[in-house]
Amino acid sequence: MITEEIRRLKEENNAVILAHYYVDGQVQEAADYVGDSFYLAKMAAKTDKQTIVFCGVRFMGESAKILNPDRCVLLPDESADCPMAHMATEEQILRLRKEVPDLAVVCYINSSAKLKSLSDVCVTSSNAVKIVGALPNKNILFIPDANLGGYVQKQFPEKKFYFSGGYCPVHAVLLEEDILSEKQAHPQAQFLVHPEACKEVCALADFTGSTSEIIEYAQKSAAQEFILGTEPGVLYELEKRCPGKRFYPVTPVCEDMKRITMEKLLACLREKKYEVIMDKQLMNAARRPLERMLELAK
Ligand code: 13P
Ligand code: SF4
Repeated sequence: MITEEIRRLKEENNAVILAHYYVDGQVQEAADYVGDSFYLAKMAAKTDKQTIVFCGVRFMGESAKILNPDRCVLLPDESADCPMAHMATEEQILRLRKEVPDLAVVCYINSSAKLKSLSDVCVTSSNAVKIVGALPNKNILFIPDANLGGYVQKQFPEKKFYFSGGYCPVHAVLLEEDILSEKQAHPQAQFLVHPEACKEVCALADFTGSTSEIIEYAQKSAAQEFILGTEPGVLYELEKRCPGKRFYPVTPVCEDMKRITMEKLLACLREKKYEVIMDKQLMNAARRPLERMLELAK
């Protein structure tokens, strides 16, 4: 059976399998650790396994490699990439650094290694507020997600924010009117949303948080029904942790996350593909903002 073969090859290769909540449920089941971006970055930083198989999108595998330059990091599908990771430019960062004094460049982890290398600190959706709050800078350039950046900005009226204008195509398609009609259809349901949704949609939420935070909230809540404003891959964990509760997903699936299948995971372990190969200098430059995130989020 494919699951057993994956387990056997994992042992043989001294590998650890990390998976994001948005990948297929079977792949989550085959993983050693499943979580949100922050949890997975922490697990990647502390593993003692020689090989890290990252079931997620490219920036996740790259972050694992940057934090572990001597380990082998494998991606089951080399084309699985987060479109938002490329929605800021080097020019935007360099220009603003020249124009604005006392500027911190805060880089959502959903970014290319190049963008990270030009930034002061990385953040994820679960630690962005904490980290921005810990920065002494008055001016913040938040790249690339303007929705998450706007959500953070609301907590710090004393800081001035600049944005590069990126967005997540899965969460940014949520519209206020769709949520209002969903609420009408399910009047008892609470609305849980990821901060990659726009501010009008977040304003309708009972809870806004990262994938892990949404799962924890639903588990602890006394409510029995939830409108789910994040990628439906989280249903796999929600159904395990919240038996009997009902969820109404409203976002489309993330096509890139769904590229990771059991067959590709098996091939990845068998053929040791696709290895994340990165330029040493680029990795060195991108490591500091990631390590700073791990320190500041403690
Ligand atoms: P999390 O950090 O909440 O896991 O989010 C990752 C992501 O890609 C959301 O679209
Ligand atoms: Fe990127 Fe959005 Fe997919 Fe997350 S859900 S990986 S932000 S495209």
